[in-house]
Amino acid sequence: MQGSANLNLMIKAARKAGRSLVKDFREVENLQVSSKGPGDFVSKADIEAERLIKADLMGARPTYGWVGEESTAEIGTDPTRRWIVDPLDGTTNFLHGLPHWAVSIALEHKGEIVAGVIFDAAKDEMYWAEKGAGAWMNDRRLRVSGRRTMLEGVFATGIPFGAKSTLPATMGDLARLMPLCAGVRRWGAAALDLAYVAAGRYDGYWERELKPWDIAAGLVLVREAGGTVEPIREGGDILASGSVICGNDGLFGPFSKAIRNT
Ligand code: IPD
Ligand code: CA
Ligand code: CA
Repeated sequence: MQGSANLNLMIKAARKAGRSLVKDFREVENLQVSSKGPGDFVSKADIEAERLIKADLMGARPTYGWVGEESTAEIGTDPTRRWIVDPLDGTTNFLHGLPHWAVSIALEHKGEIVAGVIFDAAKDEMYWAEKGAGAWMNDRRLRVSGRRTMLEGVFATGIPFGAKSTLPATMGDLARLMPLCAGVRRWGAAALDLAYVAAGRYDGYWERELKPWDIAAGLVLVREAGGTVEPIREGGDILASGSVICGNDGLFGPFSKAIRNT
């Protein structure tokens, strides 16, 4: 369970941001009952978490590029490497006092995600993976589930909200998939959905209209845990299309058939 210097840097930064968010999360629970509500407070917590991560990562690797949800993207003097960061994935959960949110940090090299860290600070679960080094949660090696029967499978997705245009497509997916499986979950943090597939908790996950920072770290986790990860429309690029479908090899065939409606 030996990570590279970059991976250790990512884990340290995720812990620091996670600690700051846990403190703020306790405060959010108090703010639920105030007339102003916790909205502004949460957006400050989110920005502060990204500031902490950026200071650590860019301080240590000033030549790398930067893509973070809460700040402007930067091209590095080393154009082959960039950090892709979501300081708080699962904001709506955080805002509502639901303990299911995470810090997500990925490192991309020459267009490929080579390391990913997802920290569920409320549950003290540190997920990490590095190309060739496997996927881990704290000190436990992760493997995708071994289920082979669709009727026993539990799958996760995100239901589009607000102005997102893919609600009808997702409703169609649900209508096709739900009769075939044991259940579908929608827990509201894409990074953790991917981490849970890597951990074998979910048998598969799919979602549309995502941003690179929602999924970058999770992609390497699922791959290193032995899972299959593809864009929903075959042949495209996952980060560019913002759509992903993944799962264990045994169920990926029937699962992806149901989602792709082929
Ligand atoms: C959101 C979560 C959610 C997904 C949304 C994302 P945020 O990220 O990952 O699960 O369904 O599409 O925007 O806004 O909480 O960082
Ligand atoms: Ca996100
Ligand atoms: Ca976010």
